[in-house]
Amino acid sequence: MDRDILHVDAGGGYDILIEPGVLDRAGARIKAALPKAKRLFVVTDSNVSPLYGPRLVASLETHGFEVHTRVIPAGETSKCAAGLTDLWEWMTAHGITRTDAVAALGGGVTGDLAGFTASTVLRGVGLVQIPTTLLSQVDSSVGGKTAIDLPTGKNLAGTFYQPHLVLMDPETLATLPDGDFMSGMAEVVKYGCIWDAAFFDFLADRPSRPALMGDITHILRTCCDIKRQVVDADEHDTGLRMILNFGHTLGHAYELAGEYTKWSHGQAVAAGMVTAARLGVELGVTDPGVPCKIESVLASLGLPTHIDCDFEHIEKAVGIDKKSAGDSVTLILLEKIGAVRPMKLPKSQVLETLAGMNRR
Ligand code: GLY
Repeated sequence: MDRDILHVDAGGGYDILIEPGVLDRAGARIKAALPKAKRLFVVTDSNVSPLYGPRLVASLETHGFEVHTRVIPAGETSKCAAGLTDLWEWMTAHGITRTDAVAALGGGVTGDLAGFTASTVLRGVGLVQIPTTLLSQVDSSVGGKTAIDLPTGKNLAGTFYQPHLVLMDPETLATLPDGDFMSGMAEVVKYGCIWDAAFFDFLADRPSRPALMGDITHILRTCCDIKRQVVDADEHDTGLRMILNFGHTLGHAYELAGEYTKWSHGQAVAAGMVTAARLGVELGVTDPGVPCKIESVLASLGLPTHIDCDFEHIEKAVGIDKKSAGDSVTLILLEKIGAVRPMKLPKSQVLETLAGMNRR
């Protein structure tokens, strides 16, 4: 059987299984990872539920689990305090115990919300992430960040809570709309930029969805292996893990400028990576050839390499960024493709440099 297994040490330690068709074998895989679980609380959304819910539930029931399913409305608005309370009440009303488990079937919204719920209900129950989007497979399902959004901002309440198992079925990507697939590709390209020049070149040689899907298991494995190493070195995001935010500070400015509707996260990160590379060149850190290389890969995937944005949004994103402390901000820059360099700089210097670039 074609199966890749990666092991994450963080938390209690867990496996990431990258396995075509694993959805139909989820019951057996979960039984092996969480042998005491009797009840499985499946959280999924209104888009994913009709596509993959019945297969997952059938496999779980075949393996003797008592299965309860909650379908949340698809979209970011579900990732809120009311959604969290609803899941807490639903799980406790159905008799969840501390040895039972939550399974998050879907993308990042489902994984973040279900993960937060699993980490807090009864002070923590089992958690299985079953990501079905490229973005959640290469990023949010691994590493244990859970969150909800608050009226004051995105992801402002959450926990670090590592899953007990991640089941990744690359075949679920077949139903992902092109825009979502390419949005996920921005994060894939990011891994090449920050960690692995050969992987970056590998992606550059596959400028279409069919070409990428031909090697999707290798792509998922490479991204998850990088993320695994970063998370194991810095589970609680106090040092190395911030390199995963390459392109994200400026990406946040673009998301903010588009009021979180005009640009997807991946599109904003794509343009953010190019701006961060150009900023790195201005600051004398980044090899001058780097921005063009990144632009070329992103453009070949139909991702934006530039987003117009009022400077006030850039100021806000640099000012409120989670990596910002007092008058300085830690920027994630590249020396060259595959070699990342976090740099703590005065905010004023960063903003002046960006303003100068904007004027040209
Ligand atoms: N998505 C970035 C991280 O997991 O740290």
